[in-house]
Amino acid sequence: MPCHLDSPARSSPAPAAALPAALAWVEAELDSLRAAGLERPARVRQGRQGREVTLDRRTLVNFGSNDYLGYAGDVRLTKAASKGACAEGFGAGASPLVSGHSAAHERLERALADLLAVEAALVFPSGFAANTATIAALVGPGDFIASDARNHASIIDGCRLSRAEVGIYPHRDVRALDSLLAARPQARRRLIVTDTLFSMDGTRAPLADLCTAADRHRAMLLVDEAHATGVFGGRGSGLVESLDCADGVHVRVGTLSKALGAAGGFVAGPATFIHWLRHAARAWIFSTAHPPAVAAAATRAIELVATEPNRRRDLAARAAAFRERLQAAGLDIGGAEAQIVPIVAGSPDAAVALSDGLAAAGFFVPAIRPPSVPHGKSLVRVSVCWHHSDHDLTTLAEAVARHAHRD
Ligand SMILES: Cc1ncc(COP(=O)(O)O)c(C=O)c1O
Repeated sequence: MPCHLDSPARSSPAPAAALPAALAWVEAELDSLRAAGLERPARVRQGRQGREVTLDRRTLVNFGSNDYLGYAGDVRLTKAASKGACAEGFGAGASPLVSGHSAAHERLERALADLLAVEAALVFPSGFAANTATIAALVGPGDFIASDARNHASIIDGCRLSRAEVGIYPHRDVRALDSLLAARPQARRRLIVTDTLFSMDGTRAPLADLCTAADRHRAMLLVDEAHATGVFGGRGSGLVESLDCADGVHVRVGTLSKALGAAGGFVAGPATFIHWLRHAARAWIFSTAHPPAVAAAATRAIELVATEPNRRRDLAARAAAFRERLQAAGLDIGGAEAQIVPIVAGSPDAAVALSDGLAAAGFFVPAIRPPSVPHGKSLVRVSVCWHHSDHDLTTLAEAVARHAHRD
């Protein structure tokens, strides 16, 4: 197993100039983050990533990226991007509304709509932008949003941006969601919003029950398939497809940056809704389109998802075997039921110590601390990917068990 320990795991901060008086408070904020064990490292990656990653000149087996199908470093995407850049230049030059919507973006939106079997799709510069813009377009003051407690930050920020009233229901608790909606009969519009595969817990939303609740309360249902696109479903479009819930889900958001190995976000649904979004989604109207070459690479990835279904099948089997191994060793993986496998450590320091111990054994498994997870629930997050071998997963499980049982 390659592990070149020729430099420290963390890049040491560059010597910084003293802050001007008006920014002096930043030092105090950083001091309190350090004291709480919450300072974040700024790592530099060298070269292409795949099964291995080199961070700060140290090469480790990579369990810390969302490259679930192994396409991020795939030369077929690089070639598609080069061809796209040669044909259309690199920068998009303007927002999609003005002149930034290229032929490559048009092909990508068509490919996404076909993949999800919906009428239309709209591409955003990022999945984060897709969530914030779409939620704020769907609801506003006088409306009500019911949001799962473990939703991603981009959903949380979209809810805040909308200025609608927000009710948080406990993770996957449909009865609590029902009560929230029943208590808001006066709301002009109601929106239920959820991740389909939760990014830190590896749990799945109860989609069928959410569709029923949306129907019962005449609410809109928006789901974020960021970690499920490419990974679930016969066509690879996500959990909505694999759970046969397409009829009950009104709006699907996703990202091109995880299993598809590219960048950008998307919203997919009925053509009239997508057309209306072009008038209401501010991050689409007021932000430069992402580069056409990136759109070309993402379109190539969608083709590969269609022609290489074995990758998602292999991934599901490997992730299931890995979860079983950890559970058999008595480790707490929460309710994980997919390729995202958290190992709950508790305090931020315990999570960092576990991550450091695994790095010493040759594995990159990032520590996840508040605000990404609740206080007391810091963890290390294993992202199982298609390119991990059985040997990688067995040796990682052994290393995790060794470290966890030592503490
Ligand atoms: C659930 C979820 N939604 C949205 C996003 C944002 O996607 P992007 O990285 O394309 O901005 C992420 C990224 O981590 C995510 O985990």
